[in-house]
Amino acid sequence: MSLLELVAVSKRYGGVLALDQVSFTVEAGTIVGVMGANGAGKTTLFALIAGNERPSGGEVRFAGRSLAGLRPDQIARRGVARTFQVVRPFAGLSVRENVLAGALFGTRAFASAALARRAADAIVEEAGLGGQADRLAGTLTLSGQKRLEVARAIATGARLVMLDEVMAGLLPAEVDEMLATLHALQRARGLTLLVIEHVMQALMRLSQRIVVLHLGALIAQGSPEEVAADPEVQRLYFGETA
Ligand SMILES: Nc1ncnc2c1ncn2[C@@H]1O[C@H](COP(=O)(O)OP(=O)(O)OP(=O)(O)O)[C@@H](O)[C@H]1O
Ligand SMILES: [Mg+2]
Repeated sequence: MSLLELVAVSKRYGGVLALDQVSFTVEAGTIVGVMGANGAGKTTLFALIAGNERPSGGEVRFAGRSLAGLRPDQIARRGVARTFQVVRPFAGLSVRENVLAGALFGTRAFASAALARRAADAIVEEAGLGGQADRLAGTLTLSGQKRLEVARAIATGARLVMLDEVMAGLLPAEVDEMLATLHALQRARGLTLLVIEHVMQALMRLSQRIVVLHLGALIAQGSPEEVAADPEVQRLYFGETA
């Protein structure tokens, strides 16, 4: 059974069909990339899965059960977490406290505050923020804030973690570090990652499978090699005339 299953999911905003009958599945323990130009519907996809928005049609299923009608907090408790494209740290809290907030509002019940703090601190370390644990989140560099978003989402204990452009705006060396961090976190915790990224090379290095959205429709899916060789993807991304 797939961990996540989208069945003909659509979303209409007034005259805009942001998603048009999108269907695909995500297997547990895999990393799936979501590619697509500006306005393709990538963030809308995350909003529908996380329950921030309701689909206009179709169904999202997680671990074999429909998420229809559930609130974001109920979906989060089932084990789904997302980051936001525009980072949203609690700027006045420290890095450690931000990650602790993720742990406390997530899927796990901690026997004591000390255990929750220990779990949060472990993730701070694994996310490469160990040296900045006591800094106020608002004072981090962009790279640090992106890491914090990842750490806070993972701290919820979610099985499915959706990352919305956590490498956007990073320097090439920072992208390399982030890729290594994501791979390590995914492996250590057996996570399933759904990853939106414009940086195509990075996405190809990270993902086992990639789905490509264009104007709300799913136009290609497969291994990174298959997607890169897809004629429609080549035409859209490399401007080749077929
Ligand atoms: N809340 C909303 N109200 C109205 N239209 C919206 C809303 N959210 C998204 N849209 C529209 O839906 C379409 C898809 O938007 P979405 O943000 O999902 O794209 P995206 O693929 O994430 O783009 P980007 O790469 O720029 O982040 C766009 O045309 C956008 O203007
Ligand atoms: Mg987006």
